Amino acid sequence: MKVLVTGGAGYIGSHTVLALLQQDHQVVVFDNLCNASEVPLARIEAMTGKHIEFFRGDIRDVAALDAVFGAHQFDAVIHFAALKAVGESTQKPLAYYQTNVHGSVCLLEAMQRHQVTDFIFSSSATVYGELAIVPYLESMPLGSPSSPYGATKVMVERIMADYAAANPEFRGVSLRYFNPIGAHESGNLGEDPKGIPNNLLPYLAQVAVGRRTHLSVFGGDYPTQDGTCLRDYLHVMDLAEGHTAALNWLADHPQQRGIEAFNLGTGQGVSVLDIIAAFEQASGVPVPYEIAPRRAGDLAAFWANADKASTMLGWQAKRNLTQMMHDTWRWQSQNPSGYSEE
Ligand code: NAD
Ligand code: UD1
Repeated sequence: MKVLVTGGAGYIGSHTVLALLQQDHQVVVFDNLCNASEVPLARIEAMTGKHIEFFRGDIRDVAALDAVFGAHQFDAVIHFAALKAVGESTQKPLAYYQTNVHGSVCLLEAMQRHQVTDFIFSSSATVYGELAIVPYLESMPLGSPSSPYGATKVMVERIMADYAAANPEFRGVSLRYFNPIGAHESGNLGEDPKGIPNNLLPYLAQVAVGRRTHLSVFGGDYPTQDGTCLRDYLHVMDLAEGHTAALNWLADHPQQRGIEAFNLGTGQGVSVLDIIAAFEQASGVPVPYEIAPRRAGDLAAFWANADKASTMLGWQAKRNLTQMMHDTWRWQSQNPSGYSEE
């Protein structure tokens, strides 16, 4: 199949591009590089010996979208492009609605103009909102996330549902990611956040290579076994393979219409202290940390019920916590400054 991947130079996008090429799909990447560079794409070409066509463009730029859709007949679109920093979204909500919501509408409109029906969207566990009971199930209603970032994911899922109701040809899949971490096992691809990392693993890995002095553990008094929050961490290559599974599922089900949501997680809650211990064991490097105040907006514990993806897509997370930590460490120690040295 020929697939357009928006945001394909980013963290999850680049790993998914690799997984797509490994399954002999053709890939065109569309990315404005606001949070990425072309280096991972060059590395993927070197790893696979395959060509990736790259368009530098913004998903809000209608002419740029028409150029890429005019140049290729796509079988499907996988839509990663978005702004994703939860804290920043509370400071710059309009930028988040502009890129994540308006940008997604521009993309769907371009698909409609060019008669492309198959759409896979990067959603998040945050769509279940603050009141949902764990484990999260796809049959639960969309909730009210506390951040503008989370609200954009809920809005795009609603837009997909409305569009599907009006356009019977549309075949949309929302993949609700839990907490993707880790890196490709080669150490060539990984997460390279700009500035101070917001998320746990990139921060912890930068402490381990000496770029930061210590990790602050946000909250030690949650009602969990060790007092720190529980999350459902999954390996980014498992997540990437969730996208190829969804793509293949659409292709194998030509009668499928409308939208379908799938949780992509392991089904297990792991604490922050568990993560630190697992990382130290995998890397052999101590991670200095201190218990700090809670971070606003954090939930004590959530994890997925991932049975639907298993039953319908034949997808299950295969890689365990030890492998997630080994691969995080391999990436970070081989690329202490991320992609920026090239
Ligand atoms: P990322 O920032 O590494 O990747 C996003 C990519 O989109 C970047 O390459 C960026 O340059 C590009 N982009 C941003 N705005 C664009 C625009 N207007 N036009 C074109 N390209 C644009 O982030 P990621 O972690 O790979 O996340 C990918 C997707 O998955 C996002 O939609 C994110 O919201 C979603 N998601 C991520 C997580 C996570 O933990 N990383 C969890 C749940 C959902
Ligand atoms: C966050 C977002 C979520 C988003 C996801 C992926 C919030 C409230 N939620 O999830 O909407 O989909 O990122 O982008 O921001 N932690 C520390 N110290 C740190 C960093 C994190 O203790 O320096 C803890 C957090 O309190 C949390 C866990 O580590 O308990 C995981 O944090 P993080 O990686 O930011 O992911 P989430 O908060 O689960």
